[in-house]
Amino acid sequence: MGKVHEATVSAPVNIAVIKYWGKRDSALILPTNSSLSVTLSQDHLSTRTTIRASPDFPADRLWLNGVEEDISASKRLVNSITTARKLREALEEKQRKDGIPAESVVPLSKWSIHVCSENNFPTAAGLASSASGYAALVSALGALYDLPQSTSELSRVARVGSGSACRSMFGGFVAWQAGVADDGNDSLAVQVANRQHWPELQALILVASDRKKAISSTAGMQTTVETSSLFAERVRTVVPQRMEAMKTAIANRDFENFAEITMRDSNQFHAVCLDTYPPISYMNDTSRAIVGLIHAFNAARGRIAAAYTYDAGPNAVIYALKDDMRDLVELFTFCFPREESMLADAFYPDPFGVFALPEE
Ligand code: DP6
Repeated sequence: MGKVHEATVSAPVNIAVIKYWGKRDSALILPTNSSLSVTLSQDHLSTRTTIRASPDFPADRLWLNGVEEDISASKRLVNSITTARKLREALEEKQRKDGIPAESVVPLSKWSIHVCSENNFPTAAGLASSASGYAALVSALGALYDLPQSTSELSRVARVGSGSACRSMFGGFVAWQAGVADDGNDSLAVQVANRQHWPELQALILVASDRKKAISSTAGMQTTVETSSLFAERVRTVVPQRMEAMKTAIANRDFENFAEITMRDSNQFHAVCLDTYPPISYMNDTSRAIVGLIHAFNAARGRIAAAYTYDAGPNAVIYALKDDMRDLVELFTFCFPREESMLADAFYPDPFGVFALPEE
């Protein structure tokens, strides 16, 4: 058996505070608007991927949480692997041109790979896994192939797997710049601030339902682009202004502005979903009860002390500063007493529980 080359990388989940919703190019996954997210702690919600390349492997194969998946059935998987392979091919070509002896240039781009990917959180918990999944796949390919590209450049490869995955290539606060180029060259992720920039900020995930969502993000956003007039306004005027305001709030560690923009953007995203025809409704009664609870909490504090945000599902992500988070955990435990802490997750540094909330 030939020498086996191997790389293992973990990538975390990210939660958007300015939402990505809508593509201008579905094949290349180019978004209609820029977005911004916070990457959660690697320790709790992440995907760990190991990739091996060997001249003895007859074909590419992939196992997801121990179960083999058919790579060729997923255009997105094929696209990401092919794109990374082309970058490796270019590197081998360059090495040969630079005069490196042929026998020292390892022809990894010609070898098949075995990919083994595991989430460290239950897939059934209804939490996003495609972002961490594709980010881990692409980071592992980058390490295996020894690619010289920067993390931002590699984020373009993660993007063709799943849009939000490009943001999981970085920790901390990350913007996905929509870009304008037709080939997607300028549609990539950049780090706005690292995690040490704002250590007091924490995230808590409240699992309101672990059922699989009825309408996938991919299908839902396509219908929105085609049918919602509210959406056009969001893309044109609201998001560009919010991206700037959010970057300023993060730079200044200004929680009140960060929180208000986060809540408003989540609300607008779900409003746009309702304005889609036929309408899409991702939040449930528990989600809406949590919205009410956060606004009541903020009113009682006389300041904006907590923010909620919801993706394409009913589970809430709550952002708050450390001291307020302690009280919020108590509040949620009191309001939803039936459930035990289900998983552990937090944004740095202290792990807070992820609570499973009662179903509707
Ligand atoms: C609501 O990245 O899952 O979470 O690009 O089609 O794979 P595809 O969609 P995906 O959409 C995520 C949408 C969102 C908002 C966000 O994460 O910005």
